[in-house]
Amino acid sequence: MIVLGIETSCDETAAAVVTDARAIRASLVASQLDAHRPYGGVVPEIAARAHLDVLDGLVRRALEDADIRLGELDAVAATGGPGLIGGVIVGVTLAKALALAHDRPFVAVNHLEGHALTCRLTDAVEFPFLLLLVSGGHCQLLAVEGVGRYTRLGTTIDDAVGEAFDKVAKMLGLGFPGGPAVEAAARAGDPRRFDLPRPLLGRPGADFSFSGLKTAVRLAAEALPPGDFQARDLADLAASFQAAVADVLADRTRRAIAMFRKSHPPATTLVVAGGVAANQTLRARLAAVAASDGMTLVAPPPALCTDNAAMIAWAGIERLRLGLTDGLDFAPRPRWPLDPRAEAA
Ligand code: KG4
Ligand code: ZN
Repeated sequence: MIVLGIETSCDETAAAVVTDARAIRASLVASQLDAHRPYGGVVPEIAARAHLDVLDGLVRRALEDADIRLGELDAVAATGGPGLIGGVIVGVTLAKALALAHDRPFVAVNHLEGHALTCRLTDAVEFPFLLLLVSGGHCQLLAVEGVGRYTRLGTTIDDAVGEAFDKVAKMLGLGFPGGPAVEAAARAGDPRRFDLPRPLLGRPGADFSFSGLKTAVRLAAEALPPGDFQARDLADLAASFQAAVADVLADRTRRAIAMFRKSHPPATTLVVAGGVAANQTLRARLAAVAASDGMTLVAPPPALCTDNAAMIAWAGIERLRLGLTDGLDFAPRPRWPLDPRAEAA
């Protein structure tokens, strides 16, 4: 089986070709960072236009790199949501057109399921597994029982963790996107210099909160001597923030492991996915949490943690194998929870 994947839900335009033998035959990502940088965040209208400008050329190049023709594909998969709707429409529309023109099935993929199932492409992880999904829009702990089968154990009650990284970077003048910039600044910093809060640490359940931590970083920054931040202060504040995030993720994940163990006794795999999973400090900390609880951490390589289309093609393959294809009347979804029962609760 060989599938074309298209990803356009945020600020990366991506196209990839993947096989069911877990081979990534092509994976291209065109970042729109430069277009959004002047605004310090992703501007939906600019994103949609940029996807429209580059997507067809990117798909053509991915097919060339993979040395395959459209008619030889088993399906065309595209992110159907959740995300910025203008961009999702661009990707879904092209995918449907290619599927229709070449008489191939179309598969609408949930972007979050793309992140969730990447570990099965990279490491052939078996169901069930415990997933910490940490991205720009989400921070959730989920029991993953199968394709389309998720039970949410915890979620953020305010900001997503990637959003907290991005906002802290903006406050500290570290630029956009924030996650990699904070991680780089933190490398030279002292994580013990600033005593920042660890929201919900030690509380029952596996929910997260980051807005109080973000405010504490702002207050600490404002309390520094006026004028430009010194490099030392910046590094120490970034490192202290990252250490607080690591403590919170570790504590909440430990709680979720206990919950997961009760419902899925033989389970041994903890997976971390989503853009924030590219962070080396957080990965190391989660590996330690997993090891101390007799679990193994699986973290995809950083380029497959941040947004890409290989994960969409792979999730497309997983769905296709189960006969789960979509009609050309599929409507792009701005919201699309993995566990709708939890969302409705
Ligand atoms: O999964 P992703 O690429 O897009 C979404 O679906 O949201 O995640 C993007 C988020 C951004 O908030 C970005 O700042 C964060 O992931 N991120 C990181 C790192 N690389 C990306 N956060 C912390 N450390 C990183 N190295
Ligand atoms: Zn994502």
